[in-house]
Amino acid sequence: MGSKKIKYSVIALGGALLAAASANARPVAQASSPDGAVSVAVTIDGDGRAAYSVTRKGKPILAPSRLGFLFTDAVKIDRRLNVTGQEVRDFDETWTQPWGEWQSIRNRYRELKVHLKESTALARVFTVTFRLYEDGVGFRYEFPEQPQMANSNIAEELTEFAFASDGIAWWKPAFLWNREEYLYNKTPLSAVANADTPVTIKMADGTHVALHEAALVDYSGMAVARTEGNTLRAALHPGAGEPKVQKKGAWSTPWRTLIIADDPAGIYHSHLMLNLNEPNKLGDVSYIKPGKFAGVWWNMIKGEWSWARGPKHGATNANVKRYIDFASENKIPHLLVEGWNVGWDGDWFGNGYDMDFAQPTEDFDADMLVAYGKKKGVRLVGHHETGGAATHYEKQFDKAFKFAADRDYMVVKTGYVTDAAQMERQDGDGKTLREWHQGQWMVNHQLRVIEKAAEYKIGIDSHEPVKGTGLHRTYPNWVAREGMRGMEYNAWVGAKNPPEHEANVVFTRMLEGPMDFTPGVLSLKGSEDSDILSTIAKQLALYVVIYSPVQMVADTPENYAKYPKEMKFIRDVPTDWQDTRVLNGEIGDFVTIARKERGGNNWYIGAVGDEEAREISFKLDFLTPGKSYKAEIYRDGDDADYRTEKRHSIVIESKTLSSTDDLNMRIAPGGGFAIRLVESK
Ligand code: NOJ
Ligand code: CA
Repeated sequence: MGSKKIKYSVIALGGALLAAASANARPVAQASSPDGAVSVAVTIDGDGRAAYSVTRKGKPILAPSRLGFLFTDAVKIDRRLNVTGQEVRDFDETWTQPWGEWQSIRNRYRELKVHLKESTALARVFTVTFRLYEDGVGFRYEFPEQPQMANSNIAEELTEFAFASDGIAWWKPAFLWNREEYLYNKTPLSAVANADTPVTIKMADGTHVALHEAALVDYSGMAVARTEGNTLRAALHPGAGEPKVQKKGAWSTPWRTLIIADDPAGIYHSHLMLNLNEPNKLGDVSYIKPGKFAGVWWNMIKGEWSWARGPKHGATNANVKRYIDFASENKIPHLLVEGWNVGWDGDWFGNGYDMDFAQPTEDFDADMLVAYGKKKGVRLVGHHETGGAATHYEKQFDKAFKFAADRDYMVVKTGYVTDAAQMERQDGDGKTLREWHQGQWMVNHQLRVIEKAAEYKIGIDSHEPVKGTGLHRTYPNWVAREGMRGMEYNAWVGAKNPPEHEANVVFTRMLEGPMDFTPGVLSLKGSEDSDILSTIAKQLALYVVIYSPVQMVADTPENYAKYPKEMKFIRDVPTDWQDTRVLNGEIGDFVTIARKERGGNNWYIGAVGDEEAREISFKLDFLTPGKSYKAEIYRDGDDADYRTEKRHSIVIESKTLSSTDDLNMRIAPGGGFAIRLVESK
């Protein structure tokens, strides 16, 4: 369909919008989404300060919220702004995801560009571009090249998000030592401190809003900090020193995004973040084939095996062959092996200087194992744990990715295990700078990894990453990332994820895109025989609830051998979807998701709850009318409970169902359910 220009006209300056403008502020521009639901208004006050406000269906979402920047070497951009012009255009296209939760995505928006100029001697000019969607708004600043801004050294961004009412916010702290790996807080919006995005908010009237960003490229990640009342303000991630962001010539910020919906399901269904990213730049990415992977891993995470060489070394020929056999028997196409390379001996945490990603250890015969896997239909997954030595990694990019490509690896998992602000950067002058995981330099480093991997037709699963902002649309080899507490926390005594964790994660972290959560620990055991706070049915549900095109089968072969009936679901469940429907959900309490497999007619349903038992019912009206389906149901046993030895209690049963049926399901404390719906011929 492409884009077309339409003439701008000041129509229907909604009463709410005008009222939102403070007394001495005059409205200078406004526009609404093509369906009319979401509107933005820009005002300029008596001091020449620009602000924007947002309404949905006539109700205020953001009160006038200020725009601007602080610089380290120039006066701030804030006051004495004038509007010099504005433009509006409409856009409507439908595009296809090479892999994903939906095959086809509609991108329909109205764009409003507001051109601003300072009335000072500096006379800097910039544009704020808004894109208005049925389900929210994205906006960014665009600075053209101008002599008085040859270099822009940004100390802070002054963008505000002044929520029009208080509400409940789900947020995780920003700028702390453990990077993105904190549990979500649930507090009044007016009690948020420093938060990483996405922050998801249920406003006083029940409207749900998710605040995040899209297309984070050559800029630092945006966290937010509460200023006063219900106002959050951008707080950029730092780098090794001032300024936080350095730009030359023309530049623009990432999109600042607000998804707005009636309920949590509506938030999840939004495609706004992906739509605000550029189309695929890599061309043919058919080398990425979604699928599951097993791993020489859980025993390391539990501390029974080591990454380092020695008597406990996990990545031995014998172990890897045994794991390849397991993967092959269960039609799992990939096997991750960690600790396969030289560099892990000694203290590797925060110290990756010995890591060599082309040098296997003596007891890991890469070529023999690759050949063995090939015979059995299993490819290896590479692992590049940098220990935070990012420059050391860049120096060996080509040999590292050539090693992987020569051995037919589809994916490499990367890692940056070091505390916040401890990333190593060397620019060639012999000095080491310490960077933050989400600062501008690391944002650029992560993209250099993606581009280098793409040269070798390899996908990347980044751990300790920069947050997801939809760049997997532009770079579809960026298949997954971590960026939240995954299953590994359940291996550790005293660190277990609480039962509500996944019901939080779906409506917060998952808005960033695929997560390598590593589900499926059917033993429900971590180190020292400690219990995981989950039922076994919930472990199966996670394959549907938490999306990733590369999904781990995380437990050990010995443990899976004890659960052959449950293993059938893990074998059957795909990792690539044509359609996704969130059937119900409350953040942190429960969620049910139905997904239709790509290239087939079967549906899968997953649901997870929290620490409470609950009954939920839902319609199956997404099934094809007139067809009958055999439902293979894996549900919590009546006595199942994450707190007792009954966490393994499960009922596996079959039913015949159709689109006119309702399903009534019980979720045990810490439980969930998984259903496979096979269309009858
Ligand atoms: C942390 C990652 O999340 C985990 O999956 C990995 O095994 C370790 N780092 C070592 O790289
Ligand atoms: Ca809860």
